[in-house]
Amino acid sequence: MAAALATGAVDVIARRACDATLADLTGADGYLFGTPETFGSLSGLLKDFFERTFYPAQGLLQGRPFALFVCAGNDGRGAVAAIQRIARGYGWREVQPALVLPSDAVESRLQECEELGTTMALGLAMGLF
Ligand SMILES: Cc1cc2nc3c(=O)[nH]c(=O)nc-3n(C[C@H](O)[C@H](O)[C@H](O)COP(=O)(O)O)c2cc1C
Repeated sequence: MAAALATGAVDVIARRACDATLADLTGADGYLFGTPETFGSLSGLLKDFFERTFYPAQGLLQGRPFALFVCAGNDGRGAVAAIQRIARGYGWREVQPALVLPSDAVESRLQECEELGTTMALGLAMGLF
């Protein structure tokens, strides 16, 4: 899903959650966060990224736009809700509906990932987000 999103967008820096740092957050105009849903929530590695950056980011990233993409065996709502709650703590704005794909349908719906990447890139370039 992340690769398809990057195809659709421009000026993308893709990072695995375990490699991402505060500098990646401060250096980006907007964010696309992706995760599988596990145990009704976001992945441990993405949660770790938020735990590592949350306090250092306070006051630096207010109002930045983000969108979510989730792969799930069921409905993905737990992962989406958990990240939305975390994102409120950073002061971010969700600018597109979360894209949740069932894990057995990802291959056939990669176009939707590309479209989300394109929408994010265009929205940023045009100053809409
Ligand atoms: C430990 C574990 C917990 C999971 N928990 C959930 C869950 O709570 N809700 C859900 O929709 N899918 C859950 N899944 C399924 C994952 O979302 C799914 O494996 C992931 O999206 C990747 O899809 P794939 O296994 O077909 O590659 C879980 C998977 C694992 C390995």
